[in-house]
Amino acid sequence: MTDTFPQRVFSGVQPTGNLHLGNYLGAIVNFVAMQKTYDCIYCVVDLHAITVPISVWGGPAALKQATREVTAAFLAAGIDPVKSIVFNQSQVSTHAELTWVFNCVARMGWLSRMTQFKEKAGKDRENASVGLFDYPVLMAADILAYRATHVPVGDDQKQHLELARDIAIKFNNDFGEWIAEKGHPNGFFPVTEPMITGPATRVMSLRDGTKKMSKSDPSDYSRINLTDDADTIAQKVRKAKTDPEPLPSETDGLKTRPEADNLVGIYAALSGLSKEAVLRDHGGSQFSAFKPALADLAVEKLSPIAGEMRRLLADPGHIDRILGDGANRAAAVAGETFRGVKDILGFLQSR
Ligand code: TYM
Repeated sequence: MTDTFPQRVFSGVQPTGNLHLGNYLGAIVNFVAMQKTYDCIYCVVDLHAITVPISVWGGPAALKQATREVTAAFLAAGIDPVKSIVFNQSQVSTHAELTWVFNCVARMGWLSRMTQFKEKAGKDRENASVGLFDYPVLMAADILAYRATHVPVGDDQKQHLELARDIAIKFNNDFGEWIAEKGHPNGFFPVTEPMITGPATRVMSLRDGTKKMSKSDPSDYSRINLTDDADTIAQKVRKAKTDPEPLPSETDGLKTRPEADNLVGIYAALSGLSKEAVLRDHGGSQFSAFKPALADLAVEKLSPIAGEMRRLLADPGHIDRILGDGANRAAAVAGETFRGVKDILGFLQSR
């Protein structure tokens, strides 16, 4: 069904805390690559950031800073804000408006099954915000406001993207008769393709190869932040947990070795190689030799990004203008979608 929709990429990153290697390799690297083939829209999702308690997102000054930092990371990594659209979510009101419509399409049962909600709400579910429960519906609105056909994300967003597909399918079915009347024989919303690709779709903690690398891990040694300096990166790689065996020469040998698998995956993603190719070069090496090679590679790839981010962040006015321009362009696309939704639903539009 997607074939009948113009191909368009949408993805988002939350402005909460430090961006880390997982965000970079699992998502941002792919955002940059997809610009070659697709029209792309990349969003700093500040409405999502406030679904957790203020103590977590840090309040207004921290939110502004983090929004600019994510934008700077996008640009420093190679996203072109002229070719692609780069903006922050709260500047385009359609995201919130379409969420309301989708709230009336999505089912309580669907949302109750979301593992990220269960993890984030923890034991005290009664005390979680309604926004946290509704988070995946807002995500569906983000994507479908642009009728995006492809969404590059890390592995942890897979379930949310399935929900976005379910919402699109149910909307197309529930309103099928009126959607067809308005001249959309293949449905109004595309059933979006998740794009979870590359050797680092799930970068794990450097302290525990069974846990995802995450912004919320209390140990800073669990992750490499995009703004870490060369010494910090080298130290974190040196201290990364490993096992005593040398690296295997085939990927099968990584299956029961989560920490080794993770470091090989990171090396592969940073160098643009497959894990197989990395093991062809480094199979048989001890970690005492592989870790310095990985640290050098990480510094070589990440230092220029950190430097460019610092340069961009020194001129917040420039970043804000990019977000403003992106928001205007995004609002034009999303506004048109929402006018179509209103027309289908029977909301009178007298202006
Ligand atoms: P967020 O801000 O948590 O993460 C941004 C992107 O980074 C990926 N990621 C990882 N990839 C590999 N390994 C990891 N350890 C790792 N940690 C994070 C995430 O999968 C994501 O692609 N809900 C989304 C933001 C969002 C969105 C959207 C995404 C809002 N609306 C619409 C796509 C489409 C999130 O919290 O990402």
